[in-house]
Amino acid sequence: MAGWRSWTICSAPSKNIIKNEDMNTANYNLQNKTVVITGAARGIGFAIAEAFAVQGSHVVIVDLARDSVDQAVQSLTQRGFSASGEVGDVTQGEAMEAIFASIVSVRGGIDCLVNNAGVTRDNLLLRMKQEEWDLVLKINLSGSFICTQKVFKHMMRARSGSIINIASVIGIIGNAGQANYAASKGGLIAFTKSCAKEFASRGVRVNAIAPGFIETEMTATLPAEVVASYAKAIPLQKMGSPADIARVCLFLASDDSSYLTGQTIAVDGGLTMH
Ligand code: NAI
Repeated sequence: MAGWRSWTICSAPSKNIIKNEDMNTANYNLQNKTVVITGAARGIGFAIAEAFAVQGSHVVIVDLARDSVDQAVQSLTQRGFSASGEVGDVTQGEAMEAIFASIVSVRGGIDCLVNNAGVTRDNLLLRMKQEEWDLVLKINLSGSFICTQKVFKHMMRARSGSIINIASVIGIIGNAGQANYAASKGGLIAFTKSCAKEFASRGVRVNAIAPGFIETEMTATLPAEVVASYAKAIPLQKMGSPADIARVCLFLASDDSSYLTGQTIAVDGGLTMH
């Protein structure tokens, strides 16, 4: 996207000509923004935190365990970035409400929420235990509902904000052995659209990213032959990296995407193109 800076959009001047400064995307102007990322102690969430930190945002890392939150925060602050951490479980409404309120009281507001916390409990449907279904729906879908509802209260008052839901291509195309995960991520995509419609008049945008197969601890356990067969099905013929997802988050949080809401952007090497 940085390359857009030098593009000539229209050689003949016209009433609607795009000005150079409109295309200046090399700098997303995310300095001093407050960005909260759930499940950010590792993997895609941490890469998202890192990307915003590099842009000069203050990032708040929310995750389940004190040790991993502290470690993630330290690895950013040691490099001179602005970061803080909160131990929180996205399924716990009251606790999350208190966390968001305390961030707002310290920082003055929340500019961007990334609902990234997510889990898998894969099993063929006939063998799937009720607990496996419930847990995945509770964290991936209800957790995003809880955080969105709590944060929207603050964004609504500020009449601005960007909420980014990390869904999955599995929520679009489904997958054998992942009915619970597919339902949670498909639900998250539908939730994104409804929130986008509800929040648009309040100046708050809501979008989703549907990552394809991304190299993280979540996918590290996949057998090599499964990874190879996935890679074959991907037009770009490789797995993605957490940074691929993080870069799209920067765009969705910035004013460069100010006319974009309710969308799901598949970042998947072309796997689900249609
Ligand atoms: P990961 O397993 O490496 O990291 C997930 C993080 O979420 C962990 O730090 C975990 O402690 C945290 N977490 C889990 N439950 C939580 C809760 N109740 N409250 C707060 N934090 C919680 O996963 P990864 O791969 O980084 O995935 C991040 C997101 O991206 C997930 O929503 C996942 O479904 C999605 N995704 C990942 C893909 C991949 O290929 N890795 C593909 C498509 C989507």
